Amino acid sequence: PDLLNIKVAIDGPAGAGKSTVAKKLAEKLNFTYIDTGAMYRALTYKSIINDIDINNKDKIVELASKIDIKLENDRVLLDGIDISNEIRTPIVSEKVSLISKIPEVREIMVNLQRQLANNGSVIMDGRDIATVVMPDAQFKFFLTASAEVRAMRRYNELVEKKISVSYDDILRDIKKRDKIDMERDVAPLKKSDDSIVINTSDMTIEEVVCKMYDIIVSK
Ligand code: DC
Repeated sequence: PDLLNIKVAIDGPAGAGKSTVAKKLAEKLNFTYIDTGAMYRALTYKSIINDIDINNKDKIVELASKIDIKLENDRVLLDGIDISNEIRTPIVSEKVSLISKIPEVREIMVNLQRQLANNGSVIMDGRDIATVVMPDAQFKFFLTASAEVRAMRRYNELVEKKISVSYDDILRDIKKRDKIDMERDVAPLKKSDDSIVINTSDMTIEEVVCKMYDIIVSK
């Protein structure tokens, strides 16, 4: 098949395995991977280090309008500095939903994401990729898993990175974020009608990647 200008959208709740799967799939297909959650996290991190109150919407929107984010393979650069690890810390995870529900912030981020998508074949993961960012994507996947399975995965990920956390805190954070992400007015986490749903609770990463790979190359 002609895999020259293929857009793949992957949406789903936190911890469903989106980013791990998207990264591996992108490698296998030689597509560019775009982690949109990392972009909202980078802005959240920037607002924290600039000591901006999370409720100061105007300041946060101003920060977003000037932000310089680069995604390079596994690394996330903010104003040229590698912040890949910093954006995964609990303090950022805790605040990111509040930042990503600001409509003006989403508008700025969606514009950046569309520019990034305009560059050959891409796999983009997030919450509103199939519904808002790339509604024309040829492939749309919605990954899910139970909150408990998702919390355990995130826990293991952080432990591996030597970030100290408690499972209960993560489970609570995931449930809270699901709620905010699903209930916000602008671009809530929602499966688009034309998405393929994959419940990853009882699947390995490899199984999920293979399933998606087969769907893409057989079309
Ligand atoms: O996928 P993640 O956990 O890195 O996402 C971080 C947060 O950003 C999450 O609370 C939802 C939000 N997000 C969003 O609103 N829209 C996206 N396209 C991606 C992430």
